[in-house]
Amino acid sequence: MAQRILILHGPNLNLLGTREPGIYGRQTLADINQRLKQLAAGQGAHCSAFQSNHEGELVDRIQAAAQDSTDFIIINAAAYTHTSVALPDALAAVDIPFIEVHLSNVYKRETFRHHSFLAATAQGVVAGLGPFGYEAAMQYALAS
Ligand code: DQA
Repeated sequence: MAQRILILHGPNLNLLGTREPGIYGRQTLADINQRLKQLAAGQGAHCSAFQSNHEGELVDRIQAAAQDSTDFIIINAAAYTHTSVALPDALAAVDIPFIEVHLSNVYKRETFRHHSFLAATAQGVVAGLGPFGYEAAMQYALAS
């Protein structure tokens, strides 16, 4: 069972709650993180969350995960999903299993959102289930 789980949120996810609510819903990032921390704590695990609008800061946080005993990562890389090679490279470098999450069903949206640089090395991908997608990923991490 994963004991230390890191949640990573990419660009613009700090605006959840007010950002395009028809697509991303009304829950704030704080609401989502609080629920995930509760779920982890209920199983005696530790969950930390980090959001950044900057690709390099996300890379730095992934690298730091190799030093702080993180054993599972749940990542919504947001727009960097579709553009970043540095994020999957960092995840490969630290060799920590991860799940890719998207609030929206990216496959129902513009074609540029259909490609993910992360998916090929993810344990799994959850898209379109809103905040529940993070909870499902957390349950998986807690059980694995
Ligand atoms: C997103 C989908 C991405 O295409 C988009 O750039 C985001 C959020 C999602 O959670 O649905 O910022 O990752």
